[in-house]
Amino acid sequence: MRIGIIGGGQLGQMLGFAARDLGIEVRFIDPSDDPPAAACGKVIQCQFDDTVGLMALAETCDVLTYEFENVSLATLRHVSEVVPIYPPVAALQYSQDRLDEKRLFETLAIPLPEFAAIDSHQDLNAAAEKLGLPMVIKTRRFGYDGKGQFVVRETADIEAAWNALGDQPLIAEQWVDFDYELSCLGVRNIDGDVTIYPLSRNVHINGILHTSKSPLNLPELSETASDYVHRLLEHLDYVGVLALELFAIGDRLLANEFAPRVHNSGHWTIEGSETSQFENHLRAILNLPLGSTTSRGHAGMLNLIGEISDATRALNIGVLHDYGKHPRPGRKLGHVTVIGESAEQRDTLVGKIDKSVT
Ligand SMILES: Nc1ncnc2c1ncn2[C@@H]1O[C@H](COP(=O)(O)OP(=O)(O)OP(=O)(O)O)[C@@H](O)[C@H]1O
Ligand SMILES: [Mg+2]
Repeated sequence: MRIGIIGGGQLGQMLGFAARDLGIEVRFIDPSDDPPAAACGKVIQCQFDDTVGLMALAETCDVLTYEFENVSLATLRHVSEVVPIYPPVAALQYSQDRLDEKRLFETLAIPLPEFAAIDSHQDLNAAAEKLGLPMVIKTRRFGYDGKGQFVVRETADIEAAWNALGDQPLIAEQWVDFDYELSCLGVRNIDGDVTIYPLSRNVHINGILHTSKSPLNLPELSETASDYVHRLLEHLDYVGVLALELFAIGDRLLANEFAPRVHNSGHWTIEGSETSQFENHLRAILNLPLGSTTSRGHAGMLNLIGEISDATRALNIGVLHDYGKHPRPGRKLGHVTVIGESAEQRDTLVGKIDKSVT
């Protein structure tokens, strides 16, 4: 049994380590010279839209999955005639386009912030009227880590937003004055068995995930979030891990976006859950029984961005995951996970790590 993984970044690497623990071989495609996933399997070096490279992966693997979302759907559909690809390409299609994604949330009666499609400068003016300010303008495609976004705070910013992003399809979204951000990860196998992880509470800084903590004592929100994830999983006939990002305002949840893959806000599950999101993703696509998503203690995960400082390495708190990437400002290089006996102890440990990050 061999699994082919499209993308050799840290998500691929952690999937690869989980596969090794299950005794399964993995193979990757990635355009970079020495991607993180090279630590756990052979990498076919090619661009993601290289049909020859993808076919080489497909022909030597029993099943394919992806850790990277910006892969050509046409190429994937072509390859899916040779080998099964999970999560289903239809799920990826929604997540590649913010407008389609938001319309899917509407179809499934999952509440979301007010939004408008933007194809012209005029649409921007109309959106400001309809949604009110502030609003956030986002590219419909290719956004990650908050890139391709512009917050319009006052009418005078509309011009600058158009100049920055106007050469591509956009959406405008009402700015949500949320109390906090949550994510809910669910997993479904080929037989249709579903299991849901406890909620994570996530803090983003400059659009990039900074910390995730779980579990939370929010039984009603947990139930609502789990219901939304179930709707997505069933509607998409989904296979694998899916992450739904949510804004919490009082007792209400609004969907931000979903990712059809393992997710940064679930990295804590490696140490903090009886079965990690990576193992359960593999179990799902191999149609194995899903593992327990029960938590082990109070988990906290802090991303190491731009550099991993000597002070952080010297701390010796929790488990440091170094993806082996070259340092670059704003780049996710690793993360640390701590498991506390109580939420307070976990928060103290996360605070110490945060202080060590320069
Ligand atoms: N409408 C909004 N109101 C308030 N904050 C927002 C809104 N949209 C985005 N944000 C903030 O910016 C962060 C990143 O936005 P979003 O999830 O849309 O971007 P992304 O580039 O797809 O990020 P990623 O793929 O890393 O999750 C959100 O987690 C949130 O903190
Ligand atoms: Mg996001």
